[in-house]
Amino acid sequence: MKVWRWLVLAVLIVGAGLLWFLFKPVTGPERDLTLVGDAERGTYLLRLGGCISCHTDLDNEGPVLAGGPGLTTPFGTFVPPNITSHPDAGTGGWTLAEFSQAMSEGKGPGATEHFYPAFPYDNYTLMSDQEIADLYAGLMATEPVAEPAAPHDVSFPFNQRLLMLAWKNLFFVPQRYEPDPERSDLWNRGRYLATGPGHCTACHTPRNMFGARDDSRHLEGAQSGTPAGRVPAIDPESLVAEGYDRAWLIDVLKGGVNPAFDFPGRSMGEVISEGTSHWTDEDLEAIAAYLLDED
Ligand code: HEC
Ligand code: HEC
Repeated sequence: MKVWRWLVLAVLIVGAGLLWFLFKPVTGPERDLTLVGDAERGTYLLRLGGCISCHTDLDNEGPVLAGGPGLTTPFGTFVPPNITSHPDAGTGGWTLAEFSQAMSEGKGPGATEHFYPAFPYDNYTLMSDQEIADLYAGLMATEPVAEPAAPHDVSFPFNQRLLMLAWKNLFFVPQRYEPDPERSDLWNRGRYLATGPGHCTACHTPRNMFGARDDSRHLEGAQSGTPAGRVPAIDPESLVAEGYDRAWLIDVLKGGVNPAFDFPGRSMGEVISEGTSHWTDEDLEAIAAYLLDED
């Protein structure tokens, strides 16, 4: 009898500990919310972050940032919402603190609104406080669109947002970019772009069965399971084997052909047309240097 009682108690304690571990709040380093954002820099960051390519229905010439086409994943279809400055249909009513929390901790203004990682906040969390303020100013300067985006099409249990809190506790660490002091500023800028705002890792790094990035296989590509399905490896060895050098990488990201004299297609076509082709030459140089692991 006694043994059973102890056993039940042990199970209860372990269970409670597990629940606490999975559903405790996920918070990161505090951001400076007194910084004043610059809408012009913010507009550039909308390109750097690829926000436009996901949050705009490009195929149907939808209004900019008013909601993207659904992203089909093994867990359901996620529709990037309207993030124009409209106060009801978009995010125009959000404070900088609420916006910052979404970008840095994957949390919405509601108490239980935890975002799905189809929104790559696990990349954007690396962005600097000034960039978050700039991005906010950039979004507030967008044309408001009164039409809300369609809801997600995700079935039980994945439609339970509280589950995303458990996901975050298991796989997500809110943090800022830490430069590697051994490497050049150029390389560090490139790594920041690839892992932070440019979120190249969101597609080019494989994911585990829970849809979390497997950073031990950084940029190694995957046959399936990423937001873009099958994606090629873009680690230095693979790029060199494909015939890329720094100039060629810059050219392809500007909209040119690859070493096989073909244009990159599928979602990479949109990453290029709506994102990287608008990047400054300095940022393209940096990402090309980083991808080839050159200083
Ligand atoms: C890969 C596609 C993708 C990219 C790139 C992306 N988003 Fe999103 N975003 C989403 C999805 C999907 C959601 C919905 C998440 C959810 O409901 O849990 C979302 C949600 C949001 C939200 C919350 C809006 C709301 O009404 O709840 C904000 C704010 C946001 N994104 C801003 C941005 C910004 C700013 C950028 C660029 C720096 C960006 N997103 C880039 C897919 C994307
Ligand atoms: C939304 C998912 C997605 C994101 C984000 C993304 N890629 Fe890609 N990328 C792809 C896919 C899919 C392909 C394969 C394209 C094809 O099949 O033609 C690809 C191909 C490539 C190629 C090879 C092109 C070729 O045809 O030789 C390079 C280089 C590349 N990506 C670099 C990048 C860089 C740099 C970033 C970040 C700025 C990035 N990608 C972000 C999905 C993505």
